[in-house]
Amino acid sequence: TWTPAAFVDTTVATLKEQIGDGKVVLGLSGGVDSTVAAILLNKAIGGNLYCIFVNNGLLRKNEFESVLHQYKDMGLNVKGVDASERFLEALRNESDPERKRKAIGNAFIEVFDDEAHQLTGVDWLGQGTIYPDVIESVSVNGPSVTIKSHHNVGGLPDFMKLKVVEPLRMLFKDEVRRVGKEMGIDAELLGRHPFPGPGLAIRILGDITAEKVRILQEVDAIFINGLKKWDLYDQVWQAGAILLPVNSVGVMGDERTYEKVVALRAVQSTDGMTADWVNLPYEFLQEVSNHIINRVKGVNRVVYDISSKPPATIEWE
Ligand code: XMP
Repeated sequence: TWTPAAFVDTTVATLKEQIGDGKVVLGLSGGVDSTVAAILLNKAIGGNLYCIFVNNGLLRKNEFESVLHQYKDMGLNVKGVDASERFLEALRNESDPERKRKAIGNAFIEVFDDEAHQLTGVDWLGQGTIYPDVIESVSVNGPSVTIKSHHNVGGLPDFMKLKVVEPLRMLFKDEVRRVGKEMGIDAELLGRHPFPGPGLAIRILGDITAEKVRILQEVDAIFINGLKKWDLYDQVWQAGAILLPVNSVGVMGDERTYEKVVALRAVQSTDGMTADWVNLPYEFLQEVSNHIINRVKGVNRVVYDISSKPPATIEWE
């Protein structure tokens, strides 16, 4: 039978044998998968693991600073790279969902490659790919139809010529969390909701500006903190807010407003392949909606997404 402890033992032993004195570079995302992959590799090869954590400017509010801190506390050899401007530039005036993903994927590869080039003698690329990523890449992004390109699979540029090591390739998310727990990773970090690689860019429908990112970060923080305050966070598989490319008429005091609409989304799932919207309490939705509209300048309307996957997807883009 599969146990997290046995998985850690055999995986660390296999990684030691496979990598030997080699060096591995790994991109941390702040999420559970890349973190667990990094800790496994760290156990196997220690200081020969070089982690890079890129701020693409599309992370949640304050995420870059706080997560970088946590990584250092975990003893990981990690470099934080703030490339926000570069990503915003790459996304300028781009509103097509697939082209936004491509622009982000390309910018990420450029930044990552710049950093990797500064390291000498690296021969491996570590990745936190898990089983559903493998499946979705094969079946969804087949040769004829690309529904969504998940840039964390198959995005390796030829010129990097690195061998790939993916210690979590056979695991589902709940197993990844159990392995993380087994290795003593902080429960809060392990319980974090999944967050897409392209970040808030695919939750800002249409083109991206620094101002829209700021608005969505504020809205998202109110929603997520509200879920935590109401003890709902751990009952939800994934949650977030979407900034719609729509203005609606509202009234503030005795002034007419014409401002942005945000959608809140919370889903239940086990692997992201199918998902049901969550029946959040009306009182909770009421409080969060009031906070958002009262505190976030530029938003005058909040809606709740009641679509399941399929036929909708979790993200709107
Ligand atoms: P969808 O929207 O396809 O999302 O139902 C399923 C799960 O995948 C995440 N997601 C992504 N993750 N790069 C990622 O790393 C992406 O381009 C991407 N698109 C969607 C999404 O947040 C959900 O957990």
